[in-house]
Parts: sequence; C-alpha cells; structure tokens
Amino acid sequence: MDLNALKQEAAKAALTELRSGMKLGVGTGSTVNCFIDALAGSGLSFDAVCSSSEATTERLQQAGFEVSELNDVGGLDLYVDGADEVDPHKRLIKGGGAALTREKVVAACAERFVCIVDASKEVDILGRFPLPVEVIPMARSYVARELTALGGRPEYRSGVVTDNGQQLLDVHNLRIVDAVGLEQTINGLAGVVTVGLFAQRPADTIIVAAPEGIRIR
Ligand code: A5P
Repeated sequence: MDLNALKQEAAKAALTELRSGMKLGVGTGSTVNCFIDALAGSGLSFDAVCSSSEATTERLQQAGFEVSELNDVGGLDLYVDGADEVDPHKRLIKGGGAALTREKVVAACAERFVCIVDASKEVDILGRFPLPVEVIPMARSYVARELTALGGRPEYRSGVVTDNGQQLLDVHNLRIVDAVGLEQTINGLAGVVTVGLFAQRPADTIIVAAPEGIRIR
C-alpha cells in the first residue's frame, strides 16, 4: 500500500469521530487534504468549521464548506490534523507545511484533538524530523544562535513566508526527551512566534493507518 493510500485510510477513519452540528477545526497538509475530500462526500454538516491555514481554507471552500473566523466561534468540539512525527505519549512535531502557529491555536481551542497519520510518522523519540520554529524575521539569527546552544542545527527555510508573514527555522539533530521542557524553552526565546512541538497540548487520539490496517491510539 502506498503512502497516499494510507493517508486516505487514516482520513476516512477520522469520519467516525464526527457528528453533524459539531464545531470542527481542520488542520493542514496532505493527510488533511484527504480528510477534506472525505468530508465533502460525508453528508455531514457542521455548526462551524475553522481552518488552520490559507491553503486549508481554500480547499474547504472548494469542497463547499463555509469557513468561520476562529474569533467568532469560541470553543471547538474537535480538531483533526496530521503530524510530521508522533511519539508514544501522543506528543507531536508539526509544521512541515509551515502552518504550525495557527495549528497550535486551533488545537488549543478544541476539546479533543484527533491526529491522523500513516505509520511512517511513528517514532520512539521525537527529533528525527527537523523541528520547525516560526520566528519574526529580525530575530532569526539570534534565535538560530540560541537553538544551536541548545544542541540543535537550525536551518533557515529559505523563501518560505508563513500565513502570518513570518519565517521558519528547521532544527536538525535534536533528540527530544523532555518535550514539554523544550517547548517551553523555545517558546520563551525573544522573537519566537511558536515552536512546532505539541507536547503541552498533545493529541488526544491518534489514528494510525498501517499496511495491516487502522490502529487507534
Ligand atoms: C503543517 O504545517 C503540518 O503540521 C502538517 O500537519 C504536517 O506537516 C503533516 O503533513 P502531511 O499530512 O502532509 O504529512
């Protein structure tokens, strides 16, 4: 089974978590794109749908959903999103698609966070995937030096501007044992918008699509 087929399986499995009338948050990425395609054919209708990126907003609208401003909606019942890495404690690395800050905000508003991944995203210890950090442009070199002092090797994601008008550093060579501590430390650096570690608010449920079938964690 190829990766795309697994992403579609994970996306379809997430439909069982949904009910009409919910307030739904939708993440970003290729797995979420499969989820939006599945939503479009589901016949479900929602009280509100909020998006974590301009790309997802456009795709949701093309699929016929009205997208609400998060500020107008208040709390969400459920957030569905993918991840770049998932550890055994349901902590995540996200931001490969540059949407980490809005994803973190939407996740924070949601009562439940269901993460949909193919089995290639599962790791024992986070850090094989370079950790994205969104920074304001004038702070980029300073933050990079601080990340180097923490043991990482930050790389500027050249040419990428986030939906918030900011820049990204991808931090290589990390072996993230204390994920909550590292999230707090990096978020505390002046000029950091947010780090793509989702440890303080991990996922509640992980739907893993593997060649042998769906696993719910
Ligand atoms: C977007 O910024 C990311 O957090 C995505 O959720 C993550 O990169 C997973 O994307 P894929 O589903 O494309 O692997």
